[in-house]
Amino acid sequence: MDQVARQDVPYEGPERVLSGMQATGNLHLGNYLGALKRFVPLADEFETLYCIVDLHAITEWQEPRTLAANTRAVAAAYIAAGLDPERSIIFNQSQVPAHAELAWILSCVARIGWMNRMTQFKDKAGKDREKASLGLYNYPVLMAADILAYKATRVPVGEDQKQHLELARDIAQKFMNDYDVPGFFPLPEPLIGEQAARVMSLRDGTRKMSKSDASDMTRINLSDSDEDIAQKLKKARTDPEPVPSAAEELGRRPEAANLLAIHAALGDETIEAVMARHGGETFSAFKEAMTARAISVLAPIRERMKDLLADVPALDATLGEGAERARAIAAPTLAEAKRIVGFVG
Ligand code: ADP
Ligand code: TRP
Repeated sequence: MDQVARQDVPYEGPERVLSGMQATGNLHLGNYLGALKRFVPLADEFETLYCIVDLHAITEWQEPRTLAANTRAVAAAYIAAGLDPERSIIFNQSQVPAHAELAWILSCVARIGWMNRMTQFKDKAGKDREKASLGLYNYPVLMAADILAYKATRVPVGEDQKQHLELARDIAQKFMNDYDVPGFFPLPEPLIGEQAARVMSLRDGTRKMSKSDASDMTRINLSDSDEDIAQKLKKARTDPEPVPSAAEELGRRPEAANLLAIHAALGDETIEAVMARHGGETFSAFKEAMTARAISVLAPIRERMKDLLADVPALDATLGEGAERARAIAAPTLAEAKRIVGFVG
């Protein structure tokens, strides 16, 4: 964004990974392939923090009991997908006050003009923008605080979060310019997957698969039964032609491209490899292969989630321990930011 000069002093702190997911409704295949699945291998290489962003969730109305259940469901999904709470710090954002405190400071750094360009706000607020919560407008600043409170350098997210990451970099840069503290914050890099960075609706290949879509048939949820998965894939929209066999076809066949991309990402292979094997088949044959693969990946996650959710005290203890570790990392950064701003005490 404009007005922000490039950082002249490099950041010299350690590499650290942070990401978050909202505690709103069921996680779906887009969340899994675009973000969650990619969290797991990063834990082998970096210090990792993964939060459940409950403060972000209430930017749109959440029934209190549902919010608590959804927070635990996302925590269970993190662990069921392969994150180890001993190695990765797993916590819910509201247990770490530094997020909200730093967000206030950063909201005085961010400019209204920057916020007005955020496309996710425009999408979520819809036509009647005056009725959106102030929190929804400020959402990207809180996200910047999530990242910068830990001086995270890398942020694995889906494609739709790229603009928010750019804003986080601009906020970090402006803070360092305004207060003359070069190198205080890193400029966090988005880690966007080459595959499945944007999983599309099963009913419309031009729309993102989303929790907020009114029709459940548009998405596969991590909690779906094998029968649900089979049914949704069977009913997934395609076109009258056979399964594509060449990359040139994908641009004009969004639904086919989406199914190929999902199948490839679920099996850690390229779309080209999938086309080489299945190109020219009927979609009904291809959907059978897809169903088998989707179930083999998702059923163990679903079952593990069920087990984890059956022991709420243990899950809550995991979140509590994660929050304690997170608070210890964020505290010195927040204290330093407050000192830089000129707060006494
Ligand atoms: P949603 O966008 O469904 O409301 P979140 O905002 O909590 O869910 O997103 C959690 C993560 O999942 C983010 O990194 C986001 O980029 C990613 N994500 C969400 N939907 C998709 C999708 N359809 N394809 C790929 N990644 C996605
Ligand atoms: N805004 C993200 C989303 O909608 C969720 C999120 C909140 C996040 N804080 C974050 C992602 C910090 C990465 C890092 O998906």
